[in-house]
Amino acid sequence: MPLETEATAQIRALLDGLKPNDADLLEALHRVQHRYGYVSGEAMRVVGEQLGLAAAHVYGATTYYADFRTTPPPQTLIAWCAGAACRLKRSDAILRALEAVLGVRLAEPDPQHRYEITRGQCNGTCELAPMAWVNERVVPHMTPARAITFARALAAGASTEEALKAFESSLEGGNE
Ligand code: FES
Repeated sequence: MPLETEATAQIRALLDGLKPNDADLLEALHRVQHRYGYVSGEAMRVVGEQLGLAAAHVYGATTYYADFRTTPPPQTLIAWCAGAACRLKRSDAILRALEAVLGVRLAEPDPQHRYEITRGQCNGTCELAPMAWVNERVVPHMTPARAITFARALAAGASTEEALKAFESSLEGGNE
């Protein structure tokens, strides 16, 4: 067994109180992802040891569910809503605008970990369509023009928060 390090001890502490075997596997993975933003190979190993599961089993569950990521999250993670109500309101044009300005494609990680666009699923808040989530924050009523404002701010070096403020200003200014 590899040596216990401070990092593995922290992961073990996160899993405190979980039952062995499969029953609490998803809860364990959610705890790790919530704390670190992703489930690393080391975290999978510790989860397996702690719950008495084979590493391959933990790896299989982690990669099966779209909720979990196995690489560190980028600075700005944009989940583009691919639901029907958003698509009816031109969300495809929003995606194309984001891809063009940021220079990344849907579901293709940016090697520099700056931005990533993933496919989000409708969560029932279609009155906000077309929408996206930026670092898990809801960004409602997007338009291609507003998406460009947001993405240009990011591409110019703004932080996620600063780029969201630019987006909010475009809402107030009626930027369509
Ligand atoms: S389709 Fe996008 S929030 Fe429902």
